[in-house]
Amino acid sequence: MGADTIIGIDLGTSTTEAAVIRDGKPVMIVNLDGQVITPSAAGVDKSGQLVFGEKAKAQYLLAPEDTVIEAKRKIGTKEKLRMGNKDYTPVEISSMLLKYVKDYVSESLGENISRAVISVPAYFDDLQRQETVEAGKRAGFEVERIINEPTAAALSYGIGHMEEESHILVYDLGGGTFDVTLLEMFGGVVEVKASSGDNRLGGKDFDECLIQWLVSQFRKKHGKDLSKDAAAMVKLKEQAEWCKKELSSRESCQIVIPFIAEKSGTPLALEETVTLELFEEMTRDLVERTHAPIDVVLADSGVLAKDIDRILLVGGSTRMPMVRRDIEAYLQKEPSKAVNPDYAVAEGAAIQAGIIEGTLSREEGIIMTDVNPYTLGIRVLCEDRSHYMSIVIPRNVTIPVVRKGIYYTSADNQTSAKIEVYQGEHDDVRLNHFLGEFVISGIPMRPEGEERIEVEFSYNLNGMLEVSARIPSSGEEASVEINMMAYEEEFFTEAATDVSKWKESSLAKEFRTVVRRAERRLKSETVQNMPFYREDLESCLYDLKLALIEEDEDRAAELEEDILDLLEERE
Ligand SMILES: Nc1ncnc2c1ncn2[C@@H]1O[C@H](COP(=O)(O)OP(=O)(O)OP(=O)(O)O)[C@@H](O)[C@H]1O
Ligand SMILES: [Mg+2]
Repeated sequence: MGADTIIGIDLGTSTTEAAVIRDGKPVMIVNLDGQVITPSAAGVDKSGQLVFGEKAKAQYLLAPEDTVIEAKRKIGTKEKLRMGNKDYTPVEISSMLLKYVKDYVSESLGENISRAVISVPAYFDDLQRQETVEAGKRAGFEVERIINEPTAAALSYGIGHMEEESHILVYDLGGGTFDVTLLEMFGGVVEVKASSGDNRLGGKDFDECLIQWLVSQFRKKHGKDLSKDAAAMVKLKEQAEWCKKELSSRESCQIVIPFIAEKSGTPLALEETVTLELFEEMTRDLVERTHAPIDVVLADSGVLAKDIDRILLVGGSTRMPMVRRDIEAYLQKEPSKAVNPDYAVAEGAAIQAGIIEGTLSREEGIIMTDVNPYTLGIRVLCEDRSHYMSIVIPRNVTIPVVRKGIYYTSADNQTSAKIEVYQGEHDDVRLNHFLGEFVISGIPMRPEGEERIEVEFSYNLNGMLEVSARIPSSGEEASVEINMMAYEEEFFTEAATDVSKWKESSLAKEFRTVVRRAERRLKSETVQNMPFYREDLESCLYDLKLALIEEDEDRAAELEEDILDLLEERE
């Protein structure tokens, strides 16, 4: 084995864990402090040395300016994180944490570990995934795969329950993010059906509620605003998190912070008793924010709440009793105790690593499929709207997936087109997340609508996207990996045909039945598991709609036959 060992890493907002497969099972790896759980904190100590984990978290209280916590919340942004007297990017901080993991894992396993599977929230967008890979590379890892955290959690459950056939809902409320995923398990296959979440909801927000309450109590009692005092806020944060955790196993908890401020030379102390009841009242809204993503996942997967066989709770914040009660009441089912909420994600990442390195074989092991969590598309002109989102890959499609969109020039003699790629659920791209853009040129000069531009989206197992464009008539292909750097350039005209308008064709009536039959088949579960068949059928259906829009009856008749053949083939 040696250099072939691949580890799994759960790089969390608050904590980080690593695991490896030994004798066919995931085993958690302890850090240099002898702990499995490493706080995701980095810092520079007084002597200028870099410190990580528990040491860094401990110094946060005394020297917040020398310490960075929760860097994961900033990944994918340009925000700078200050540590010591230097600024770092979120990628730099994450790579330091990963390097720390690499070192302790290598030490603990007694071999140089340089390959890893790293988990990310299912809801991470493309840029956040790319930056996570980048952080891994800079730490000296070959990042073999990015795996979605809930998928990993389900794998960790699945490996011990191979014979089971069930619908599993993974509810992951961590430090910074909430993810919910519905999976189906049958005969050792774990298949992700749908995934949703809120990347701005986590344990940190519960702390924040408590902090706000403490600040307002203090203001009432002493007329002083602690929120202006950075040092006081650091203490409050620490105490608030501690109190929240205490309240997971107690009915009330007292917070005492002596010398938190002063008033005309006299030190002031903060003293409050927080009951569980009060805490739950303050944070009920946060818990209820988990309902919408759960509804989305049920709707997208077509699974009814009553058909969920197992609920897995993952993430430290699911230790809060109200969270458990709420999910049980909402889905009318008691959550399972079969996975460890702190270890499940790292264990699942290790299982994925084991599948890649071959220590977990397919026969004895487990197979997994995943979905893309966001709709992906490009900006097009549509009637009088110039910000229309044309969908190329809908959300919750099984990955890997390759899809093509066909577009047309929108002006006479147009020689180039700008392809702008977006991620999100709105049909106005301005409300979605811009991913990147590029220009394809070399379009032959022709009247409007007579040149075709094929745009291909390829979404890989890491949840990352490559977009390419081609002009079939000239064979021109743009060198077209997504450029994440947004650049301001004159907007060229870009083109559009949205095949959903096929119904307006004068031929629509004649071909409606075959369109509907194909659409129904595409929605069926069996077809979802036959990627090649599905793609064939999809592309025929697409071409048929296109032919209808173009009022090309001969071509439409040809395609109808192709589709009928395909439908019969799998009857
Ligand atoms: N006993 C407890 N009661 C309530 N909350 C807890 C408890 N233990 C841990 N937490 C909270 O759980 C959160 C950390 O959970 P976890 O380690 O699963 O998150 P993470 O994986 O780092 O974050 P994410 O998955 O969002 O990136 C913190 O907000 C912490 O305060
Ligand atoms: Mg987590």
